[in-house]
Amino acid sequence: MKVTHNGKELDIRALWMEGSKVRFIDQKILPHRFEFVDASTVEEVARFIEDMTVRGAPSIGAAGAYGMAMAQITDMDLAEAAKRLKRTRPTAFDLFYGVDSMLATASEGRDLVEAAEKYVTQIAEKCRKIGEHGNSLIKDGFTILTHCNAGALATIDYGTALSPIRAAHKGGKKIHVFADETRPRLQGAALTSWELVQEGIPHDIIPDNAAGHFMQRGEIDMVIVGADRIAANGDFANKIGTYEKAVCAKENGVPFYTAAPVSTFDFSLASGMDIPIEERSQDEVRYVGKELICPEKATARNPAFDMTPARYVTGIITEAGIFKPGELKRENLQ
Ligand code: MRU
Repeated sequence: MKVTHNGKELDIRALWMEGSKVRFIDQKILPHRFEFVDASTVEEVARFIEDMTVRGAPSIGAAGAYGMAMAQITDMDLAEAAKRLKRTRPTAFDLFYGVDSMLATASEGRDLVEAAEKYVTQIAEKCRKIGEHGNSLIKDGFTILTHCNAGALATIDYGTALSPIRAAHKGGKKIHVFADETRPRLQGAALTSWELVQEGIPHDIIPDNAAGHFMQRGEIDMVIVGADRIAANGDFANKIGTYEKAVCAKENGVPFYTAAPVSTFDFSLASGMDIPIEERSQDEVRYVGKELICPEKATARNPAFDMTPARYVTGIITEAGIFKPGELKRENLQ
């Protein structure tokens, strides 16, 4: 992704390995500050995944792969490292895919730094291809709704949901984006909007509960969201609130797409009801920043993801093309 920082244009990824360290764009402090943080141990990588310094399914998968490479460099037991990394966040399948790919590589006696680099580059390239395929769905003049952040920050580079949007804009199509603010962590307002500003893509942030209103008035032409885990039948988990958008889209005849690379597909699950859904601290709901927004005694629930049934999905945009849910087989994505 191209980022203008201190007057300079940088072409960078959300995270990368430098020597024996992993360097991350600190996603917790965007859009106010643009800074990097380094992890030197597997424990630090795990904590950066847990506290969402790095987030978004393919970026979490990359952190897992790099974490395993770091474990090999530091002579840490690889099974222990894999266990610690996999304990961080349960929903995004990419984490398990990335870590298990490295375990399989290590069992062949191969170098994990090289393998992790290759893994990360391949996933980024798949995201670029998602952009090419998804762009074919976008017509000049479209307004596209997206939820959470499924851009370069979430996916190493390019994005999943944002990749077709970038490609359409780069190709000269006049498009407009509605970015759901995405309570409680505000990834849409803070991160998607930051990426769109960097690219000069026209957009409005909308409150999470405004999408139905705009769909009903014919102001949204299509919805594209990312995915954290897609089951064999095409049901998928994504950021909390996605399900509601999908139901509203169907009610209003608005095409609804999810976009993801191979690393997000969990073909071992027959249906989305089996996807583990992370529940995070209630204080993410009770506070906005440092400010308590409810009575001190109030309690809250905070599921980080929800499951959208395949019947609401018009198509799944992948690196291999666009598929109807359930149509897709493992071999399509190798
Ligand atoms: O909790 P987050 O910020 O990691 O959730 C991210 C999302 O829900 C994204 O939409 C998803 O990971 C797909 S990004 C390619």
